[in-house]
Amino acid sequence: MHPIVIAALLFSVAATATAASNDAAALAGFKASFRDKNEATVDRLEQSEAQRLCTQDAQRPLKPAQRKQIEQQAQASVRYPADGNYLGDWKEGEKIAQNGRGMQSSDPKGTVAGGNCYACHQVDKKEIAFGNIGPSLYQYGKLRGGATPDILKYTWAKIYNSHSAQACSVMPRFGAAGILTEQQIRDVMALLLAPESPVNQ
Ligand code: HEC
Repeated sequence: MHPIVIAALLFSVAATATAASNDAAALAGFKASFRDKNEATVDRLEQSEAQRLCTQDAQRPLKPAQRKQIEQQAQASVRYPADGNYLGDWKEGEKIAQNGRGMQSSDPKGTVAGGNCYACHQVDKKEIAFGNIGPSLYQYGKLRGGATPDILKYTWAKIYNSHSAQACSVMPRFGAAGILTEQQIRDVMALLLAPESPVNQ
């Protein structure tokens, strides 16, 4: 092998090693400077395999096969409602969508978490304060032809583990990460899909 090629290879090995030790040093720094407080616990710094790959994706884009794998694993993690009942109470769903509390250091232990959907999505047209990191969900059910079996399954899986439809999604994994209960997911599902919900007016 040509010496320049060898030098380049050695350089890239060294650069990878440096990046890895920088990551380890950063993680150690985080661990040393945070402590568990109320609902916010330091074990959250432990990344899942998908999170590890997605962090890598921010620097070096993942290969399509790796993205597919993340989506398939996320899909496999989804627990659908055992009783086959996907839709709860849209009024409760609206409260959950508006509620940004839970899992924060200022939340007393045992605080029931909300979904904070409005932080990223338009949901009800009447609400004027919403974020736009995610697409508008206004008329979600209406535009998709209602609560058909496919839409129920897709929407549940998206809320349960957002990576199921989009590897490295920034949307929280509400079911997989234990943020919302099964009943809470039913309620936000009803908010999106019930014909009488303000979302579908
Ligand atoms: C931190 C931002 C964020 C929050 C909070 C969030 N989402 Fe999302 N959501 C997204 C993004 C971004 C997308 C676009 C697809 C992707 O990248 O995953 C999305 C996509 C979706 C989709 C798929 C839309 C489609 O047209 O297929 C649904 C359904 C959805 N979100 C529901 C919710 C619900 C319900 C909540 C609250 C329980 C919520 N989201 C909270 C960011 C968020």
